[in-house]
Amino acid sequence: MFVRGGPSHRLGAVLVPMSLALAWTACSDGEAAAPAADAGRDVAQPPEDASVDAEGSPDSSAPWTCATDDDPDGSKRHLECTGLYADAASKVVAPDVRAYRPALEFWSDGAAKQRWIHLPPGTTIDASDVDEWVFPAGTKLWKEFSLEGRRVETRLYEKTAAGWRHAVYRWNAAETSAERLETGEKLPPTGARSTTYEIPDATQCKTCHDGRKEPVLGFDAVGLGLPGAEGVTLGSLAKEGRLNAAPATTDLVVPDDLGDGTGPSALGFLHANCGGCHNDNAAAVASYTKPKLLLHASELLGEDGGAAPTSYKGLRAYATTVCKAANRTDPDGGAPYALVQPGAPTASLVAILAGQRVAEGKEPSSGVQMPPIVTRAVDGAGHAKLTSWISALAAIQPTCP
Ligand code: HEC
Ligand code: HEC
Repeated sequence: MFVRGGPSHRLGAVLVPMSLALAWTACSDGEAAAPAADAGRDVAQPPEDASVDAEGSPDSSAPWTCATDDDPDGSKRHLECTGLYADAASKVVAPDVRAYRPALEFWSDGAAKQRWIHLPPGTTIDASDVDEWVFPAGTKLWKEFSLEGRRVETRLYEKTAAGWRHAVYRWNAAETSAERLETGEKLPPTGARSTTYEIPDATQCKTCHDGRKEPVLGFDAVGLGLPGAEGVTLGSLAKEGRLNAAPATTDLVVPDDLGDGTGPSALGFLHANCGGCHNDNAAAVASYTKPKLLLHASELLGEDGGAAPTSYKGLRAYATTVCKAANRTDPDGGAPYALVQPGAPTASLVAILAGQRVAEGKEPSSGVQMPPIVTRAVDGAGHAKLTSWISALAAIQPTCP
């Protein structure tokens, strides 16, 4: 590992929409605002253990205040107490919480998403390893999911002095409050939504999120440094002195051998949707499989942190898939599938599995679909990026060696 970059790093133009351009403030970290007094709850005299019934299950009808809202693991029971909002009733986020959207997004069965980060005032992210950032204690990241214009769930990862913990909060129908839900929930198809939408149970979070050194998958140099990132970006973090080591450039680029954009789109799709599990970290659940689908900022920056590479052929995501045999054999032919067969997306296992889901009513399974959990609808646009690239690849790789 080496420390990259110096004060001479180049800063690109950073476009921050006004609604996102909230300054970091020096106000106190963490302690969340109490729920708004007009939230319609009796917060005057909360009994000592009002939020837990005789069996120890949460009783959502019990009165509560943020002061008594702690779960045994230290997480708050209600999203309103996590520090996200300055005013939960009007959904105004706290001044020390900033919105961001990574350039590469995970597909969540069509849900619309918003994300925010809180970094405690005066702290920096340890970016000495440009591929695996280490966040300061007190960091919180939220991701909100909406279906058909209504908030459904908001997820939280937070780093305390004792390490990371996570929670998922289920919004009530009126969107006035969101309470912790550990068991997950399957929302049946509706007229507008043809498949089940699944709120993961709290153990499933780790299946994806434990695949990196820290359980933060999208707020990284690649996601914030490629074109299209909004709000907090690699450039804004470097400019504000939020990284202990800024990379040589904050405008990352995925090489585009074909010059038609298909490669960067497809490799970006694989990074966001597959790379958290398919990488070399021992804790990544698919680390033992051949495809390594994570893009590494160190690769995009060039080995020495200097000139960026001009071909994607050297990237692990290309080198471990294109013209490489899968472990799995084709049940019809008996031969192993190709992971990526240039010119033949329907013979490429990476594209086959990204383009399939189990039948409605069945549990997702790795034999049929990728990702193998939670999702029940194909990312049509993402899959099209992948198949377009695999088709176009025949121009530079007509046959496999
Ligand atoms: C199937 C894989 C998968 C599962 C399961 C999953 N996540 Fe994520 N999550 C991701 C990916 C990939 C990103 C980054 C890309 C993005 O934000 O679109 C992400 C982003 C996030 C973020 C924003 C910070 C970050 O890591 O970039 C939070 C917070 C989060 N997830 C919380 C949770 C919680 C809590 C659960 C369990 C209830 C969960 N996630 C389950 C894949 C998953
Ligand atoms: C939640 C973790 C997870 C995510 C996300 C994920 N995978 Fe996988 N993948 C696995 C696991 C575990 C296996 C091995 C189990 C198996 O093959 O049944 C696997 C196997 C595979 C294989 C078979 C490899 C071989 O050599 O036979 C391919 C191809 C694959 N995944 C592609 C993808 C693609 C493409 C994506 C993104 C669209 C993706 N995966 C997302 C966990 C994941």
